[in-house]
Parts: sequence; C-alpha cells; structure tokens
Amino acid sequence: MNWEAFWNQQAEADKPTAQVGRINAGELNSEQLHIRLAAHILEQLNLQPNDQLLDVCCGNGELTALLAPKTAFCMGVDLSPKLIELAKAKHQQPNLHFSRANALQLSGLGRTFNKINLYFSFQYFEDYETGLRVLSEMNALLAPGGRIFIGDTPDATRWRQYYNSPAKIARYYYQKWRGTEAMGKFWHPKEFEKMAEWLGLEVQILPEPADLPYAWYRFDAVFVKALA
Ligand SMILES: C[S@@+](CC[C@H](N)C(=O)[O-])C[C@H]1O[C@@H](n2cnc3c(N)ncnc32)[C@H](O)[C@@H]1O
Repeated sequence: MNWEAFWNQQAEADKPTAQVGRINAGELNSEQLHIRLAAHILEQLNLQPNDQLLDVCCGNGELTALLAPKTAFCMGVDLSPKLIELAKAKHQQPNLHFSRANALQLSGLGRTFNKINLYFSFQYFEDYETGLRVLSEMNALLAPGGRIFIGDTPDATRWRQYYNSPAKIARYYYQKWRGTEAMGKFWHPKEFEKMAEWLGLEVQILPEPADLPYAWYRFDAVFVKALA
C-alpha cells in the first residue's frame, strides 16, 4: 500500500475537523471524541507543563492541538503533506509546530523530546522490522527518563473478533491480493515486548479504557527509557 497517496486522498475525502480515518466515534460526536482521546493520551504520557512533546503520525493535528497547551513545546509530524497543510492552517498556537516527516526517518527533526505520542497509526507499519525501525527512530529522539505512548493498535490476538465472518475474511484477503487493504497490521503485544527488550526500554501493555470506541479489538502501550 502506498500510504502517502492513501492519506493524501483521505485528507481530501474526510471532514477536515474529524480525526483522520475514524469511522466509528461510538456515542460521541467528533469534538467530544477528540477531547476524550486527548485526555487519555495526556494521562498515559503523564504530560507536564514543561514537557517537549512529539506527535508522530499526527494527521490533521486535531489531537495534537489539544495536547499542545499542556506542554512547553509540541511538534506534530506526518507523512502526508496535505494533512500537514490542514494542520498548519487550522491550528495556530505559539508553542505548536507541524512538519512533514516520515516516521521511518525522524533524525532530521534535530531535537530531542521527553514525551512522544503515536496514536491510532502503528498498524500502518506493516511488518516487524518496519515497526522496530519506527520505535527505534522515536527512541533516538527520546531524552533519558522519557516516555513513548503507542495507542490504539489493532491486537493480533483479537484478529478473529474483528474479522468475524467468512464475508469479512474473504474481503480482507481479496483486498490484500489487490493491494488495497487499508487496515494494516494487527500487532501482537509480544512483538511490542520484543521490540522494547531489543531497544532497552521498559514497556507496559495496557487494555484501552472500555469507553473508547475501538477498545474491543485494540490495545495501548507505554514505553519508558531509563534515566542515563
Ligand atoms: C489514522 S491517521 C491518525 C492520525 C492521528 N494520529 C490521530 O489519531 O488523529 C494515521 C496517520 O498516520 C500517518 N502515517 C502513515 N504512515 C506514516 C509514516 N511512515 N510516517 C508518518 N506518518 C505516517 C498518515 O498520514 C495518517 O495521518
């Protein structure tokens, strides 16, 4: 899948004020959902007013813009130039910056952060090596004692709960064959543990709070880097 083309096209298809790629917001409207998700991310990252936050795969910046006021400095990066344009046009705050960057190559950002968020996006890294590379790029920018939150990742142990009928499974394999399958990879929590061990990070695998719309088939993870 060419994700840059896919997300550029989503930037035009989706409502610019909605979270990119969200199909089901549960009981909440978009604005309420963004507030709920930002509160959840803030709690998992234990965000503090002097924090330097990087939001990787920030999309149109709807969540980034809610997190920025809780930090000293906040940068959102995304692969899609069109989503970054939308984010820059809509969200202007003195401590908030958006930039086009590939999560596979973050060293060009040229600064370190003590908190890094990657929400609702890890599934687009479609094999173990690519995921490890992304986590390793984030880890390279992470200050000692810093924290990475990877939230809302489809859980491989619940793949059959998601693809729960022959028709859904057939569609999945057909789209895979055509190269149009857009759900990406269901990650196994054990793969997260293995990556953390490789990079020398502590990791906690967490169930999502039950009120979040995709809690039934996704999980969260918090990685912590030791103090030097
Ligand atoms: C479902 S959206 C989530 C956006 C945002 N995190 C949120 O929760 O609202 C997934 C985002 O991941 C971005 N993305 C996918 N692959 C990427 C990569 N290699 N580097 C940076 N961003 C990427 C897409 O452009 C898209 O904006």
